[in-house]
Amino acid sequence: MADPLTRLAYQTLQTGKSLMGLAHKEVSTRLMEALAPDGSPRTVPMDPKTMVALRSSMDRLVAIDWEQAERGLYSTALLFDAPWLDWASRYPLIWLDMPSTWKRRQERRVRDLPEHVDPSDYPDYYLQNFHHQTDGYLSDHSASLYDLQVEILFNGTADPMRRRILAPLLQGLEAFSGRPSGQIRVLDVATGTGRTLRQLRGAMPRAQLIGLDLSAAYLRQANRWLSALPGELPQLVQGNATAMPFGEATVQAVTCVFLLHELPREARQDVLQEAYRVLEPGGVLVLADSVQLADSPQFASVMENFRRAFHEPFYRDYISDDIDQRLSAAGFEAIAAESHFMTRIWSARKPVR
Ligand SMILES: C[S@@+](CC[C@H](N)C(=O)[O-])C[C@H]1O[C@@H](n2cnc3c(N)ncnc32)[C@H](O)[C@@H]1O
Repeated sequence: MADPLTRLAYQTLQTGKSLMGLAHKEVSTRLMEALAPDGSPRTVPMDPKTMVALRSSMDRLVAIDWEQAERGLYSTALLFDAPWLDWASRYPLIWLDMPSTWKRRQERRVRDLPEHVDPSDYPDYYLQNFHHQTDGYLSDHSASLYDLQVEILFNGTADPMRRRILAPLLQGLEAFSGRPSGQIRVLDVATGTGRTLRQLRGAMPRAQLIGLDLSAAYLRQANRWLSALPGELPQLVQGNATAMPFGEATVQAVTCVFLLHELPREARQDVLQEAYRVLEPGGVLVLADSVQLADSPQFASVMENFRRAFHEPFYRDYISDDIDQRLSAAGFEAIAAESHFMTRIWSARKPVR
């Protein structure tokens, strides 16, 4: 049983992160309105009921995160895991980067990518400044700011939301409980800078972890963070999730966090089909992505503002897409879903034939 002081420390940390995120957004929005009014997104007003619902949903997320750590699904140390000093030293860079973000938004430039990028190396939909971020996903500069930007965007709940994949994942892997844990392979698709792999390592100290992403820069950043982790080093592979460079039935679990909303619908289906192909029969797929209009209509204005403030070309399509139906079309069974704050978690199994 974890001690009550640790619980208090965790709650305090989350409250602090949430206040810092809100303060950052408030100040940066005012600054943008003053300095680059044409670059300010036209957001819709949020009524107080939505704000209250958001707050209580965030509190529930933190409570579940604590409960699952206390039950031993993962270590309570994971709740405090973050490169605080590194983030503090990078924080000024976020402010320095902002004017170029405003300018891109103002000029509606969404394909402003580094010169070294060869477009033939990537699918066309990927060659954009997602979130209006400088260099899209295609530079070390972008990779070095990404984690902190996501922390700020979600008011410090990014990792608690990522950790919601762990319970369904561990449950799904019970199908392989007769196998030594060192022989379980988990593939994290669109692993980015590796934050999800860190959560996976915290819950599965001996599993073989693999991270796949299209961005060499993001994988380099992941490599920096993950090489300090105890246990076997996760394997990082550069490749396209719509044509995964892995053989059929080679992994027991696939996870995929915050990718689907950034894909056009054909690619969304291709990723699910690829996950199905690489999974061993009986294997589990766990997805985490934005909540959708059907499951969280009370947050419709939050979703709308996200789309307006950030360059998210496929988000509108995503929030009304039927992911259950897509999973079933890919061949999955035992499809289940639940929402935690702004994240929807799906789990599904590849049938044993
Ligand atoms: C929003 S980020 C999510 C990263 C990470 N999963 C997380 O939780 O922070 C989306 C990631 O998907 C990657 N990505 C986008 N399209 C991809 C594709 N077709 N194949 C592989 N990775 C892709 C991007 O490079 C980026 O790292």
